[in-house]
Amino acid sequence: MLTIDKSDTCETPFLYQQVVDFIKENIERGALKPGDRLPSLRRMSQSAGVSIPTVRQAYVELEKQRRVESRPQSGFYVRSSRANRLVRKISTACCDPVELSCRSLMKRIYDGINNPDLVPLGIANPTMAKPPVKGLHRAMKRVMARTAERSIGYSPTVGEPGLRRQLAFHYLDTTGVTVDPEDIAITNGAQEALLIALSAAASQGDVIAVETPTYHGVLELIDSLGMLAIEVETCPEEGITISALERTLEAHPVKACVLSTTLGNPLGVTMPNKDRQRLVDLLARHDVVLIEDDVYGDLRFDGQRPMPAQFLTSDARIMTCGSFSKTASPGYRIGWLVSRHFSERIEQLKRAFSCTSGLLQQLTLAEYMATGDYARNLKALRTELKYNAERMAGLIAEYFPEETRISKPVGGSVLWLELPNDVDAEQLFDDAIEAGISITPGHIFSPSGRYTNFVRLSFGHPWSERTEGAIRWLGKRVAELAAEAA
Ligand SMILES: Cc1ncc(COP(=O)(O)O)c(C=O)c1O
Repeated sequence: MLTIDKSDTCETPFLYQQVVDFIKENIERGALKPGDRLPSLRRMSQSAGVSIPTVRQAYVELEKQRRVESRPQSGFYVRSSRANRLVRKISTACCDPVELSCRSLMKRIYDGINNPDLVPLGIANPTMAKPPVKGLHRAMKRVMARTAERSIGYSPTVGEPGLRRQLAFHYLDTTGVTVDPEDIAITNGAQEALLIALSAAASQGDVIAVETPTYHGVLELIDSLGMLAIEVETCPEEGITISALERTLEAHPVKACVLSTTLGNPLGVTMPNKDRQRLVDLLARHDVVLIEDDVYGDLRFDGQRPMPAQFLTSDARIMTCGSFSKTASPGYRIGWLVSRHFSERIEQLKRAFSCTSGLLQQLTLAEYMATGDYARNLKALRTELKYNAERMAGLIAEYFPEETRISKPVGGSVLWLELPNDVDAEQLFDDAIEAGISITPGHIFSPSGRYTNFVRLSFGHPWSERTEGAIRWLGKRVAELAAEAA
């Protein structure tokens, strides 16, 4: 029975989206099977208490997501889905620390994905799916009028107090946890937060444990600091495998771990709470620092912000890196680092690396948060991303070879695909660039370059015919490469 929530606080504000979610839930539970006819527009409108155009909009959206098909003069029918999910590998095998294996490929990939003329499936820039340009411009204008000369000056080393207070309030609002604004240092994006955290926790030659696959920017940082990365098996549905991490800690002198327990890139999964607690206890026992990469925490599709591990424990040897890059503007280069223990060292490192972060951007973001625009846009952004994810997964299921496996992200802006027959993702990357499409080959998500037949595709941009054409092209090319490799 569909109950429509018409309140302002509902996370899914558009009525048609609630109808979409209801039908999808029923398909996923098996209550609606391939070939079943959906209730007629009139019947659905009567039972849900919404208008016929609303139900039609929902059915058309489901059609775009390849969940249903319309048959002339007959109605809407559930389609069969060929989407194969990535499977859990039951492996607790322990790897060895390694140096980064694919530096030159990284450079080529960055050149490719930053080319604005390409269909941008290679760059994870989710704000583009719902660019908050107007709200930020309004906030910046108000700030410039109010602060005059001050707006072009230096900010305090660890950031503008007003922004640190807004961030503390945001944590309270979304997780119920009280964070002292004094424990928050503003940085130049999460990348600098990660740099400071790694520099505070470890030195040249130290071993840093990472999820596999993991965000390539972390791997480049570890490499450039002369540290070694060690990969720890990670489940595509639940994040890092605790037993594999335990073995790694027993076998190697790991100094710190860089993990995304709230929402990872590229898998887009959240670690279950029970595992997060086990993780914190395990690292405390081994005296290993945890550096949390939490840049995607606010982008869970269901709006349920996962709790960073730092807030689960009184153990202070945890640092949490956040950023506005995925939720407001990557170009402002404003991120932050939360730590109860390392604050003096963090301030010293921040001063040494970059003095301060841009004041005008900080004041603008503080204003943008204070007006409530940030929270409102986040809600709309999550909804947009959720539907883009569904549409992209639907198209991949339709156009890629059947053996392709797809991640099922609970948030964020990327899908992670395993291609069949050991299709070389680097070859696909080169061909795609020639065809005007950027993608990210899997190699760079592992220090040992192990994901040679994986790709990451971004759905964080406005959906268009061009996007659909690009997925179709990629599917066809993968099929050709798979046939050549067979
Ligand atoms: C997981 C993850 N961490 C950190 C960063 C760096 O973020 P920023 O642009 O704020 O430096 C990114 C950017 O892509 C990311 O995906």
